[in-house]
Amino acid sequence: MADGGRAQLARLTSSNQWRFFRALSRASRGLALTWLGLIVARGLLPIALVLAIGDVVASVGDSKDTGALARGLIVVAVVFTLSQVLASGHVQVSVDLGDRMSTYLQDQLLDATLTPDGLGHMESSELTDRLAVAQDFDLGRSGPPMDISIGIIAGGLVEFVAGLGLVGVLAAYHWWVALLVGAVWISTHWLLRDSTTSSRLDDRVQSAQRRSDYTWRLAVDPPAAKEIRLFGLSEWSIAQFAESCRQLVDLRWEAMRLRERPMIWSTVLLAGLNLGLFGLLARDAANGVIDLEQITVYAQAAVGVAALAFGGLNWALPPAAESVALVEGLRQAMAEEGRLADGEVSAEGMPAKAIVFRNMTFSYPGRADPVLDGLDLTIEAGTSIAIVGVNGAGKTTLVKLMCRLYDPDCGSVDVDGADLRDLAVASWRSRLAVIFQDFARYDLSVRDNVAPLGAPDKLIWESLTEAGATSITSLDTVLAKGYDDGTDLSGGQWQRIVIARALCAIKQGAELVILDEPTAQLDVRGESEIFGRILEATRDKTTILISHRFSTVRRVDKIYVIEGGRVIEQGNHEELMAAHGRYRKMFDLQASRFERGQG
Ligand SMILES: Nc1ncnc2c1ncn2[C@@H]1O[C@H](COP(=O)(O)OP(=O)(O)O)[C@@H](O)[C@H]1O
Ligand SMILES: [Mg+2]
Repeated sequence: MADGGRAQLARLTSSNQWRFFRALSRASRGLALTWLGLIVARGLLPIALVLAIGDVVASVGDSKDTGALARGLIVVAVVFTLSQVLASGHVQVSVDLGDRMSTYLQDQLLDATLTPDGLGHMESSELTDRLAVAQDFDLGRSGPPMDISIGIIAGGLVEFVAGLGLVGVLAAYHWWVALLVGAVWISTHWLLRDSTTSSRLDDRVQSAQRRSDYTWRLAVDPPAAKEIRLFGLSEWSIAQFAESCRQLVDLRWEAMRLRERPMIWSTVLLAGLNLGLFGLLARDAANGVIDLEQITVYAQAAVGVAALAFGGLNWALPPAAESVALVEGLRQAMAEEGRLADGEVSAEGMPAKAIVFRNMTFSYPGRADPVLDGLDLTIEAGTSIAIVGVNGAGKTTLVKLMCRLYDPDCGSVDVDGADLRDLAVASWRSRLAVIFQDFARYDLSVRDNVAPLGAPDKLIWESLTEAGATSITSLDTVLAKGYDDGTDLSGGQWQRIVIARALCAIKQGAELVILDEPTAQLDVRGESEIFGRILEATRDKTTILISHRFSTVRRVDKIYVIEGGRVIEQGNHEELMAAHGRYRKMFDLQASRFERGQG
C-alpha cells in the first residue's frame, strides 16, 4: 500500500475505540445499554464480595452477636450467586450484541460496495485489499470474529471496573497506597504496549487474506469445480488455503506476542510493589493499627487490583475496534472512488434525437494507455447501429461509458444535446436495456431473471417466446442447481433468457437497447433468427449491437469499425464492402472460414 494510504488509515484508526462503542449503540442501542449496565453491575460485585468476606471474618471473632456470622454468610452467598447469574446472562447478551454488530457491519459493507453509482471503487486494487481485511470481522482469520471479541471485551471491562473499585477500597487504608498500586498495575499497559500492535494493515496480512479468500471460493463455489477436477488442482487449492491461513496465524502471533524485556520489567515492578504493600499490611497488623476485618479487606483488594493489568481486553478491543474503523473508512473511501456527480436533468423521453460521442478519451484508473482516444461517433435516435472491432478494441468500454458507469477523461457523451453528466443517473439508466457480455445469472426464478424489478407474467412469457427460450415451462423454476426444482442452463439457453430480459425492458419502456455480443453462444441459425426478432421488437428504438458475426452485423442501419481507440470506418454494409478497408478484410476472412466449413 502507498504511504499516503497508510497515513490515511492511521488517521482513520486513531479514534477506533470511540468508533467501536458508537457502532455498538448503532447496531442495537437497547442491547448495548444492557451490555454496559451489566459490565458496571458485574464490576461492582467483587467489591461487595470483598467487603462481605471482611464482615464474615470480623463476625467470627465477635462472640456477642451470634447472628452476625449467619447474616454475613448469607450476604456472601447472595453476592456470589448474583455474580454467577449475571455472568451467564452477560454471555448471552454479548453473543446477541456481537451478532447485531456483525449484521450492522455487513450492512455497512454492502452499502460501501453498492451505493456508489460508478464502478471505480470495485476495480481499485487498494480498495479490494482493504475490502478483504474489512470482511474479516466475520471470518476471523486475522483476528477473533465479532461475537467472540465482544464477549472477551465484556469480560475485560468488568475486570477493569472491579479493579478501579478495589483501588477505591484501598483508598480507605491510605490514599497514596491506592494511587501507587493502581498506577503500577496500569503501567503494565504502557510497558507491554508493543504486544498489541495491529497486523491487519500489514501488506503481508492483506495479501494472505486475499489469497485465502480466493482459494476458499475457488474450492466451494461451483463455477471452478469442473476445472479444478480436470486439472487436478484439488490438492493445490487445499495447500494454498492452508498455507495462507497458517501465514495469517503466524503474523497474528508475531503481532501479539509478549516481548521478553517488558515482561521482565513488569514482573520486577509488580513483585516490588506487592512485597512492599503486604509488608506494610503485616507491620500495621502486628502493631494493631488495623484489625482483622481490615487486613482481610485490604489484602483481598490488593490482590484484586491486579484486574487492572494488561490482559485479554488489550488483545480483543483493538482488533475489534479496528474492524469497525476499517469498515467505516472503506465506506467513505469507496463512496469517493465510485462517486459520479449526479445530474439533475431528467432523461424522460431520451434519446429522441441523437447520442453523440465527442472527442472522447478514456483510460481505466491506474492504466496509462487510453482505451478510447479522441473517439467521435454519432448515433441517430431510432436507428440501429453495430460496433465492430477486434478483441480489446474498447467496444465494451464504449458501452460502459454510454451507461455512465465511468466518466470520460476528456470529451463528452451528449444525449439530445445534453451532457450525460448533467442527466440524473438513475433516470438515464432507466431508459436503457443492456445485455453485457458477462451478464449476471441470478440464482433466482425465471420470472426474476427476466424481470428483476418485476413485470406482468404475460409480458415475461411474450419476451421468452420472442427470445426463443422454448425449453422454459414454468416461471417459478429456479435457474441454478442446488435448489429444489432448480435447473442449470447451457450458455446458449442463458443467452436467450437475458435476451428476454432486454426484450421485457423494451416492452416496459426502455428506449436505448444495447447488446454486447448477446448471441455469441448461439448457433448461426439461432442467432440470425433471434436477431431478426430483436430488430423487429426494437424497430422504433435506438439499438446498438456488438457482434463478431457479419451475417448479423450487416442487417443494421450503420456500422462503425473501431481500432486504436477511434472510429476508423463507418457506413452501411454495402458502403463498407465497397470501401475495401478493414471491414471488408474482416468480412472476407470470416466468409472464407465459413466456406472451409469451420464457422
Ligand atoms: N475494468 C478494467 N480495468 C482495466 N482495464 C480494462 C478493464 N476493462 C477492460 N480493460 C482493458 O481495456 C481494453 C478494452 O477492453 P474492452 O472494452 O472490454 O474491449 P472489447 O469489448 O472491444 O473486447 C482492453 O485492453 C482491456 O484489457
Ligand atoms: Mg467486449
